[in-house]
Amino acid sequence: MIYAAVMGYGTIGSGVAEVLEKNRDVITARTGEEIQVKYILDLREFPGDPNEDKVIHDFSVIEQDDDVKIVVETMGGVRPAYDFVKASLLAGKHVVTSNKALVAACGTELLQIAREKGLNFFFEASVGGGIPLIRPLTGALAGERIVEISGILNGTTNYILTKMAKEGQTFEEALRKAQELGYAERNPESDVEGYDTCRKISILTALATGREVNYEDVYTEGITAVTDTDFKYAAKLGTSVKLFGSSRMEDGKVSVFVCPMMIAQENPLFSVNDVFNAVMVKGNMAGTLMFYGSGAGKRPTASAVVADMMETAMNMNRNLPFGWGAERQTLTPVEKTEFSYFLRFEGKAQEKKAEIEAVFGPVRFVELPDMDEFAVLTGSMTEEHYRKISAAFSDIRQMIRAQI
Ligand code: HSE
Repeated sequence: MIYAAVMGYGTIGSGVAEVLEKNRDVITARTGEEIQVKYILDLREFPGDPNEDKVIHDFSVIEQDDDVKIVVETMGGVRPAYDFVKASLLAGKHVVTSNKALVAACGTELLQIAREKGLNFFFEASVGGGIPLIRPLTGALAGERIVEISGILNGTTNYILTKMAKEGQTFEEALRKAQELGYAERNPESDVEGYDTCRKISILTALATGREVNYEDVYTEGITAVTDTDFKYAAKLGTSVKLFGSSRMEDGKVSVFVCPMMIAQENPLFSVNDVFNAVMVKGNMAGTLMFYGSGAGKRPTASAVVADMMETAMNMNRNLPFGWGAERQTLTPVEKTEFSYFLRFEGKAQEKKAEIEAVFGPVRFVELPDMDEFAVLTGSMTEEHYRKISAAFSDIRQMIRAQI
């Protein structure tokens, strides 16, 4: 028997207990030993819950119990999760977490402590929910130079954008539903402002480069400025708008960004809808691979946590080579990255056509009926160039980067 403690009995933590219970036979058969939750740490009581007798409120009970070999952290947020995770590792316990905020902010230090202590610190569930992504990246693709990781990494925003695009729901309605479904972060600002995607793409980039990525250096823009009118133009253009996290690693240069992106129907990410995430990974030998699945939600995320617990249970006496080192990756500023641009201008297209084409070169014009505005889709240029030339126009109402 291997004893575990679960810290945080919310959506994911209670899901972990559920997966361990429902799949006990296969988990035990594959691991070779049964994994049993001994404690659940939470501020709350859970009367009537099948695990109510395991609930404790004092972390030191876990820290001091030598029977507990695996600590699962599903609390979210950096503090106090960081203090409890660090103390667990220092007390000789393996740690599994779903907490991307913690991994992005403190992963370098926690991975280092785990190495020094011969323990494992795993976080498959921190990126892409139930999609196996981190293990393939560090295992099956270990022989690759990864040149690009791009995708939809946040279920809440993808759910919101899908509902806005397909059902005409307002941003607020769709967000409320995503919260009810347990997709959104406690503070949904993390989702809608792109911070969650930023942390996830930073973790993936650190794994791909072997170097620490400071998520605060990543250009990040959320979806709060995307409107239903943008989707009307997008439909007319045969495009869609998705929140992208993207990282390109070539010739020693690494550029990472998070922003809403207009994409064409031909793009494999075009039909990734609702809570689904999809990540495109490009290796220099394997070529392009796609990973697709539920990016958030109780059971998919808990399933990834349980897989990490099993991997830990099968490697109790050694640290598996994993993660990244202390050297920090320099990031190329977003100004050097090339995009096309979807721009909405005030006024009438025919009146401004010449002026716009003189500055942007050939563009595609699109108009909606009865609107005192129009939109264009430009060709590709660096962000730096776009910023310079677009400064000539004070009548741009909206700008969404595009990969068309
Ligand atoms: N809030 C996150 C999302 C949860 O919507 O993707 C999974 O990381």
